[in-house]
Amino acid sequence: MNKQVTVSVIKADIGGYVGHSAMHPGLLERASQMMEDFRSRRVLIDFHVTSCGDDLQLIMTHTFGVDHPQIHQLAWEIFRECTGTARELKLYGAGQDLLADAFSGNVRGMGPGVAEMEITERESEPLLIFMADKTSAGAWNLPLFKMFADPFNTAGLIISPAMHAGFRFEVHDVKQHQRIFFNTPEEMYDLLVFIGATGRYVIKAVYTREGEVGAVSSTQRLALIAGKYVGKDDPVCIVRSQGKFPAVGEVLEPFTMPHIVEGWMRGSHYGPLMPTSVRQATPARFDGPPRVICLGFQLAEGRLIGPRDMFDDPSFDEVRRQVNILADQMRRHGPFEPHRLPMDEMEYTTLPQVMEKLRDRWEALPETLTPA
Ligand code: F6R
Ligand code: MG
Ligand code: MG
Repeated sequence: MNKQVTVSVIKADIGGYVGHSAMHPGLLERASQMMEDFRSRRVLIDFHVTSCGDDLQLIMTHTFGVDHPQIHQLAWEIFRECTGTARELKLYGAGQDLLADAFSGNVRGMGPGVAEMEITERESEPLLIFMADKTSAGAWNLPLFKMFADPFNTAGLIISPAMHAGFRFEVHDVKQHQRIFFNTPEEMYDLLVFIGATGRYVIKAVYTREGEVGAVSSTQRLALIAGKYVGKDDPVCIVRSQGKFPAVGEVLEPFTMPHIVEGWMRGSHYGPLMPTSVRQATPARFDGPPRVICLGFQLAEGRLIGPRDMFDDPSFDEVRRQVNILADQMRRHGPFEPHRLPMDEMEYTTLPQVMEKLRDRWEALPETLTPA
């Protein structure tokens, strides 16, 4: 087939079970029923509903293209309906990520996270979908860099003629709402200047040098949308694999390093990202440590063949062990940096309210103690 197919992953936290640790099966069931209805009416080619921690992810294929109101609206309807179920069960934080009352054509800016790509399905199209909980949008920067630009991770950059030219990265400045493109390997150092600052610069997409999309991430920063802390972004990312893109094993390899991300308890701490099976994506210890899951699919005329639960594999046991050791080490710092986020990042948590209460208690230093 040479037709275009769109893969949309739209997610939201609409209520946790228990606390913020997991998803109630009733919500997964209700979302699946509604998706089935949209599939039988041929709005969707196919779908898969899953959860990572307290986030509900709707994975969909269709032919409407990215940012289509009909697809965004159906996701919004499902989140609204499931919020009703969450309210009945009095789940924790029911409707947390739905920041608006009425749908206005696109879920962007309304709370849910979105990653979408329109592609021409190849002869064989292996897709990997990453979903994280208790962390923020910049969490994909390091793994995406390794997958598409680091030859120590991706042997294909050296060995495969299909990848030897390198890739093109689209980076968004989520605070100034601007973007920039970098070609690797030539501009690798320039790229790293920005993407190392994960709270502000986020890799939105990666393309081949011919412009074909290879990866897309959700860049929604909930706190910046809501103007206050309502929960972490808990981002998603779609990666195409094999052939001109990194092999499945090269796409998964970055997650063997227990890399430190922001999020965890109250969205206010740094901690290591733990790759787990879907079943084990239930962040409980100190509301964490942050989790990442990966579902693998083969696309067949837009149908989602799968999923395979990619981190449900003993070769990721060692990184999980290392994450636990690092988690212990970070936790021992308690409320001290670098476990707790630095002050300017705490601006987007509930801490400013406490600081406001103490504002009038500050007094000027006596002159004798003031530097000349
Ligand atoms: C992290 C997260 C949780 C909560 C924490 C406190 O993204 O959502 O860690 O911040 O459980 O929640 P509240 O203030 O609702 O009791
Ligand atoms: Mg939650
Ligand atoms: Mg969450």
